[in-house]
Amino acid sequence: MYTFGAGPLRGEVRLPGDKSISHRALMLAALAPGTSTIESSNRGADVLATRDAIIALGADVDERGEVVTVEGGALHDPAAPIDARNSGTTSRLLMGLCGGQGITARFDGDESLRRRPMDRVARPLRAMGVDVQTADGCLPATVRGIRNPPGGEFVLELPSAQVKSAILFANLSAGGTVIVTGDRFSRDHTERMLRHFGRTIAFDGSTVDLEPGALAPRRVRVPGDFSGAAFFITAAAITPGSDCIVRDVGVNPTRIGLLDILLAMGADFELQHEREQDGEPIADVHVRYRPLQAASIDRELVVRAIDEIPIVAVAAAHANGTTRIRDAADLRAKESDRLQAIAQTLRVCGVTVVEQPDGLDITGGGARPPDRILETLDDHRIAMSIAALAAPTGPHAIDNDACIAVSFPGFIARWAEAQA
Ligand code: S3P
Repeated sequence: MYTFGAGPLRGEVRLPGDKSISHRALMLAALAPGTSTIESSNRGADVLATRDAIIALGADVDERGEVVTVEGGALHDPAAPIDARNSGTTSRLLMGLCGGQGITARFDGDESLRRRPMDRVARPLRAMGVDVQTADGCLPATVRGIRNPPGGEFVLELPSAQVKSAILFANLSAGGTVIVTGDRFSRDHTERMLRHFGRTIAFDGSTVDLEPGALAPRRVRVPGDFSGAAFFITAAAITPGSDCIVRDVGVNPTRIGLLDILLAMGADFELQHEREQDGEPIADVHVRYRPLQAASIDRELVVRAIDEIPIVAVAAAHANGTTRIRDAADLRAKESDRLQAIAQTLRVCGVTVVEQPDGLDITGGGARPPDRILETLDDHRIAMSIAALAAPTGPHAIDNDACIAVSFPGFIARWAEAQA
């Protein structure tokens, strides 16, 4: 249990390394023959699940603080099942990776991950000849990989970066061009990192075109995690007296849908020192409090803010008018049913929320401290959203703060510093 208090956010904030980029850096470093180094890698439980998995698959990993050195290029079947714990990215991307490297592996995860759909990855893998056995479309699953797939065209059944990445990872040793169509601006970190590791690849938000080739080992500096920054940025935007700068954060256009949403709501922020680092755009984000207006959010905006919908709901609870979120049904298949989880949290705090099959209607105003402990459902992003919800109207107590370490170890200390 932990209680988040009321108070503005001020000063400078530094984030852990981006979780999505850290997973991909570890996996490509494990495949590339030679020595790669990854700086500012995320140290959350999800990325540690990927680290342990690539070790089990035969990579040599040495960690000195936030610098990880990986000796890659000689992967083999793991001796035991891969435990992806709470991490969808670990399980789905590695199922793809093993599928295209002739590796046989069993995958499992915690109670939450065992409830999440894996058929979205199993189907395209089976289409290329990989044998995938699941438990009714879920984990535990067994993958019997093939070697040197032919390549070809794949159509995404939903705009998911995890599915797209699983397909690309399964085809890294393909003899022909690999084309993935049907995307709608899901995060493109895999594409950018494949280019960084020496592959020829073209991508435009709807289609990816990967040429046959080999990976070369690289140095990767991981940007600050925008999805961690999102809680500080939003709390500052809704809490009078706030003025804070989030430093060195990844601002990849496929990740910053939240900034477009906050802009439409009238928030006061600017990007400073925009630059590129190892193929990813980064910047400092300076944000101050200003009253917000309701907005309408759907389609691409949801995909580009897929992990930020709970914090968007918190912003909406403090905006003037009714915010409508649609096309967000996939939020029900995340670490928790995030539409239901944030709707319930806001209602307990006095906010009017109508749940739709694929979204929420949230009417701003009326937020107050709850009269009971709020349930996180062991979901890190729900826990951190409650921290932001408490900033203008706390105190808010949560039942579990340990789950935050899935993506953001040290969050509570950094939050307290920003509120000091
Ligand atoms: C991720 C992609 C998103 C996101 C998840 C991380 C990734 O999932 O929600 O937290 O690293 O590729 P989907 O691709 O399933 O939408």
